[in-house]
Amino acid sequence: MEIPFSRWYEAIWIRRSRRLFNSRLIDSNTGERLHNVCKEFNPFSGVRAVFVNRPPDKVFKGIVLHYGKIRGAPAIIAFIGDMNTPHIHEKLGYVGEGIVLEATAMNLGTCWVGVSFRPELISSFITIKKNEKILAVTPVGYTREKWSLEERIMTGFGRTHKREPLENLLAGGREESWPEWIKPALEAARVAPSAVNRQPWRFTVKSDSITVSVNNLRDTLNISKRLDCGIAMLHIEVASLQSGMNGAWEFLDSPHVARFSSVR
Ligand SMILES: Cc1cc2nc3c(=O)[nH]c(=O)nc-3n(C[C@H](O)[C@H](O)[C@H](O)COP(=O)(O)O)c2cc1C
Repeated sequence: MEIPFSRWYEAIWIRRSRRLFNSRLIDSNTGERLHNVCKEFNPFSGVRAVFVNRPPDKVFKGIVLHYGKIRGAPAIIAFIGDMNTPHIHEKLGYVGEGIVLEATAMNLGTCWVGVSFRPELISSFITIKKNEKILAVTPVGYTREKWSLEERIMTGFGRTHKREPLENLLAGGREESWPEWIKPALEAARVAPSAVNRQPWRFTVKSDSITVSVNNLRDTLNISKRLDCGIAMLHIEVASLQSGMNGAWEFLDSPHVARFSSVR
């Protein structure tokens, strides 16, 4: 599947993690579209996303850190990685975020969940192969347009959505010499979601490329920072396509994650 970049670019700016859902069920048309995007957006082998159209409340655990429990979602999408595949975390972040952006474009609420869920419950309705692991999940469903007080409290009145200024995320490269596509791509990466909003990505710009690295090698909450970086990678690519620039990814060894270079 080609990246529907205009649609996903727009979704990048409106996506927020949503944790309270209304009880409206996902109709069969919408369910089929979600199922199709899970099946068709598969740029890397070793990653799969499975749409499960059944109420998952018990899948989500209670309060983790300051977050409240996710409630009322009619369905979930599970992100499953084959743990023998190289660079599995970054690949899974990239693929999962494509699906999250498509759901956002369809007016559905989502929230990446890497900690506060019970994989054993999900594997009671999806077959998980020997080398596979459910690395994350998102609830998916309809939310209130206006945020309730409870949801605002859950997000620290927007604190969990605040991002670092771009200059704090740059590991190298002077802005004056950047080609035009670079700044919008970095701005899109900056607003990517990450576990506990840790924003672990650092960017190095060199002539016509962006290298994504992690800020340090300490993972927190048992979630790889490389997964967050995979999410930011998708945002970089979507924004570049929106600027008319085609690029390609090359995966790199730690502490680097991947380099995106223009393909002329
Ligand atoms: C990999 C990953 C794991 C996450 N795990 C959880 C989680 O277990 N529980 C939760 O409530 N939110 C979780 N989040 C949501 C983040 O807290 C949220 O994305 C971040 O605070 C930024 O806020 P925003 O998504 O509204 O922009 C996770 C996000 C990512 C990317």
